[in-house]
Amino acid sequence: MVIIASAPGKVILFGEHAVVYGKPAIAAAITKRIYVKSRLIDSGSGIQISSKGKTESTIEYVKRAIELVIGTKRMKKAKHGQGIEITIDSELPVGGGLGSSAALSVATIKSVSTLFGIDLEKEEIARLGKEVESKVQGASSGIDPFVSTYGGAIYYKDGRFSKCRQQINPFSGHGSIIIGYTGSPSSTKNMIANVSHLREKYPKIIDRIFDAIGDISERAKIILEEDNLNENENELGSLMNLNNGLLESLGVSSFSLSNLVNASLLAGALGAKITGAGGGGCIFALSSGEDWEDGEEKEVSTASNRSSRKSEIFEQFETRKSKICDAIKMAGGVPIPVEISHDGVRLESNSRKI
Ligand code: MEV
Repeated sequence: MVIIASAPGKVILFGEHAVVYGKPAIAAAITKRIYVKSRLIDSGSGIQISSKGKTESTIEYVKRAIELVIGTKRMKKAKHGQGIEITIDSELPVGGGLGSSAALSVATIKSVSTLFGIDLEKEEIARLGKEVESKVQGASSGIDPFVSTYGGAIYYKDGRFSKCRQQINPFSGHGSIIIGYTGSPSSTKNMIANVSHLREKYPKIIDRIFDAIGDISERAKIILEEDNLNENENELGSLMNLNNGLLESLGVSSFSLSNLVNASLLAGALGAKITGAGGGGCIFALSSGEDWEDGEEKEVSTASNRSSRKSEIFEQFETRKSKICDAIKMAGGVPIPVEISHDGVRLESNSRKI
């Protein structure tokens, strides 16, 4: 039997690092996924992993995920003793700050548990994913495995979450988030350790920075609960910029990350910030979904006027997005336009090529 499961990557919209210390954060699943195929093999009782660009940490996340599934009580009743072959296909850069390790852990847990006939609830998958991350990274808030399991945009604090009503998607079907990848991976484990050392040295100062980041997430949550996101997207951009400044002060930026943030802002992004652990990896920029014409109202009284106005605004929206993409390229990054994925972890058809 062959089981294929997939799980999405994510962007942290607000609150990374502070969330490890119990502050709230907001994350959204994206339309780039990791696919994990598992099957039982008779030869040998170990775990065989094949993946393009396999790294030591890939192997560790997969092995820990399988160990935890095998450790569940119900698993002991299931037939085992054979080897497991795992094949990975990823649309996410490894160590790129887009939640590739959480997506890998979550998809592996879903695939392997299904292979053994175990029906795990999403809650259990997310908690096992958090345990995998804690074991491999030394610490994990759990936000990445939770958003990868449930999909959509979530507000997260201390292992609890709620879905945000608005999904930063002003033009339905056309996300306004543009990711900029520096091309250099980074280690979440090292970045978490660096921040922890800084906190040991300056506990009062760093805790105040975490408090401020938590306050930013709380304010962003309120905006994401409001009806008309377009009207409030400027504030969302300002909050991103504030959050980015605080991340810089925690020392998790790099020359390339700052370059991409500045290039996006110069190209007209409403806000831009590091996303994920930092040190390398990615930034994301927010492009406005609003009408570009300095707030000037145009006559849109007839249906045909309205529809041509709509396509005009859509064109402006696309132009603005492509300007930000060009600026990211010019600054040496790789632009990745993404949308928010409403789907979290899921089983895929066995006929999917991987
Ligand atoms: C990594 O995507 C986000 C961090 O806050 C770590 C975590 O929350 O587990 C840096």
